[in-house]
Amino acid sequence: MNSSQDTIYAQACETISDFKFDDKVAGVFNDMITRSVPGYTQIIKTLGDFADKCVTPNSRVYDLGCSLGAATLSVRRRLDGRHCHIVAVDNSQSMIERCQQNLSAYVSDTPVELICADIRDIEIKDASMVILNFTMQFLAPEDRDKLLNKIYLGLQPGGILVLSEKLTFADEPIHHLLDELHLDFKRANGYSELEISQKRSSLEHVMKPDTLAQHQQRLEAQGFSHFNQWFQCFNFASMVAIK
Ligand SMILES: C[S@@+](CC[C@H](N)C(=O)[O-])C[C@H]1O[C@@H](n2cnc3c(N)ncnc32)[C@H](O)[C@@H]1O
Repeated sequence: MNSSQDTIYAQACETISDFKFDDKVAGVFNDMITRSVPGYTQIIKTLGDFADKCVTPNSRVYDLGCSLGAATLSVRRRLDGRHCHIVAVDNSQSMIERCQQNLSAYVSDTPVELICADIRDIEIKDASMVILNFTMQFLAPEDRDKLLNKIYLGLQPGGILVLSEKLTFADEPIHHLLDELHLDFKRANGYSELEISQKRSSLEHVMKPDTLAQHQQRLEAQGFSHFNQWFQCFNFASMVAIK
């Protein structure tokens, strides 16, 4: 998936506004997320592996906060012949338009319904897999239980939720160490100190990570009987929950 290089925060800004998934971000998003989220490429590939194992014939797969469609594409490649239906949702029109172009570049017999909407407003039903790949962290914390409840109710028995998130840690020295390692990852990928600090300020009021324990409690409270983390690099993790 092509995108231009992310230089959005390369020049000093007079004021840093809150981060938005607007046209500027959508245009560089693949470069931005690959250089910012350790393990992103591995997670995207593995979402296809989860789909191969867990998606049942004639069911639906939901990609909530689909951005440019990386997860949808990874999953769709594995579903040919299963008569499934993918629903990919994002509330950024710029992301949806680019996602449509990316999906059109590949042939598949699995239809994708691309919806520009808030994931809190859509219906979820007959799902054997729901993906929240670094999306829930952008919802207000008080909306997260309700979203997970809707996902739980919309999943078939045995269906899975794959939830990837940036983590925070209650243990301060661990939090500090893993955060530093993440910043080193960004530096190694060419981001300057200015870019790192301006992006951090822009995300401060917009992205609110939880601890792993908070995720686990939330999933258990909704009724998910099986839960585990299957991936972690520094302060980024991906979890799988089975209904
Ligand atoms: C970090 S990106 C997700 C990356 C994407 N899942 C992937 O794997 O490449 C978060 C996405 O969620 C979308 N988003 C955030 N809040 C949303 C909401 N309430 N409803 C729908 N989409 C939302 C943003 O527009 C953005 O495209």
